[in-house]
Amino acid sequence: MNQYIIRGGSPLFGEVTVSGAKNAAVAIIPAALLVDGVCRIENVPQISDVTLFFSILEELGAKVRLLNRHAVEIDARAIRSTRPSYELARRIRASYYLLGSLLGRFGRAAVAMPGGCNFGVRPIDLHVKGFTAMGARVTEGGFIEAEAENGRLHGANIYMDQVSVGATMNVMMAAVLADGMTTIDNAAKEPHIVDLANFLNSMGADIKGAGTDSIRIRGVERLTGGTYCIIPDQIEAGTYMAAVAAAGGQVLLKNVIPKHMECISSKLVEMGVSVTEQDDTLLVRRSQPLRRTNVKTLPYPGFPTDMQPQITVVLSLAEGTSIVTEGVWDNRFKYVDELKRLGARVQVDGKVAVIEGVDHLEGAPIKACDLRAGAALVIAGLAAGGTTTLENVHYIERGYEDMVGKLRALGADIRVVDVPEEPRQDSRIG
Ligand code: UD1
Repeated sequence: MNQYIIRGGSPLFGEVTVSGAKNAAVAIIPAALLVDGVCRIENVPQISDVTLFFSILEELGAKVRLLNRHAVEIDARAIRSTRPSYELARRIRASYYLLGSLLGRFGRAAVAMPGGCNFGVRPIDLHVKGFTAMGARVTEGGFIEAEAENGRLHGANIYMDQVSVGATMNVMMAAVLADGMTTIDNAAKEPHIVDLANFLNSMGADIKGAGTDSIRIRGVERLTGGTYCIIPDQIEAGTYMAAVAAAGGQVLLKNVIPKHMECISSKLVEMGVSVTEQDDTLLVRRSQPLRRTNVKTLPYPGFPTDMQPQITVVLSLAEGTSIVTEGVWDNRFKYVDELKRLGARVQVDGKVAVIEGVDHLEGAPIKACDLRAGAALVIAGLAAGGTTTLENVHYIERGYEDMVGKLRALGADIRVVDVPEEPRQDSRIG
């Protein structure tokens, strides 16, 4: 098992190229099962969640051919099974997308659901509500089994009681080959929703309105294949911005969509960080003390919950008292206990964290408890004086391509050490 050893306290300088978006990739790759042809997907991030999805697709009978480090060809014409193995599917939260894609294409699916979760209850009732409205019978046990009553789903009007990224994407996948028109109201608007819709449209689907809260999907007979390039990762970019904010320095982020970054950039600017946009780059510089602010996480275009741990780390070094409110998940502050080991002063009460800025963090041995919290603790280690040893970095490798290499290129003193394997928990969050 790997650990990161970070000797912090030095600013970051240089350039970093942002990879393809993890949360788009883990939807688009299972969505390739809807395609009765060959699809070529580019800008695929090299992360362990993606590798796991390739294994699942191959197990179902798809041909997965890596063209280079970031491009893959998926041919799902000869799918043999609509029941991915429990062992593989339960290891990745996003395996729920296999329900929408297999049900949409073959009229049936049986997918093991990850049991526990790391930041509160993660129900899938809205996904099930959508499938049921489209004429599927759904039974929930160790496996979620879904079957279209007449072998094919039909269009329906679906209102999401809560804004859900996963349910919006899953229903979109199920609807593209359904008979007739589906509407999703109160839909999520995240950039990866638009990316999935663009991918499906480029394969022959008819989806309109993605990126607004009302999406209309006219079912087509077949998706035929094509080429698609995944958008840059908003959260990976935001994580490097937060790293510069916390550690200081000046970094040029390449391959970003600045519009997607506004919700994050505007908070950093409020805190005294300079962010300059040019074409598909952002220049981030922090040369003055950080100022306090308040942050509340919300669905897009609000401040993303997947940036909450990283911004909390930055605020732990800002002058004054800041308040961070988690507006999406019930229990997403578990990492705060680890952050406090480095000297941060944070009080958590339910979904609210009150952060009293300190002028210095000091390295210590700490553990990641999930993907984004792990990234946040790396940032804390980079900003802290002395040495930080971070365990459980397999969480980080699920969603960040070569984080250590990218940070080393910015001058960070971070290295990976291999320590003897201990029995390891499943990675059940996304
Ligand atoms: C996705 C992301 C995750 C991010 C989250 C919110 C992936 C693989 N994961 O997760 O990184 O933190 O979006 O941006 O893309 N809810 C229900 N019923 C449902 C579904 C969700 O009540 O059927 C609730 C959840 O409990 C939560 C809220 O809706 O409070 C948002 O969840 P959702 O947007 O669905 O998150 P995920 O798609 O699972």
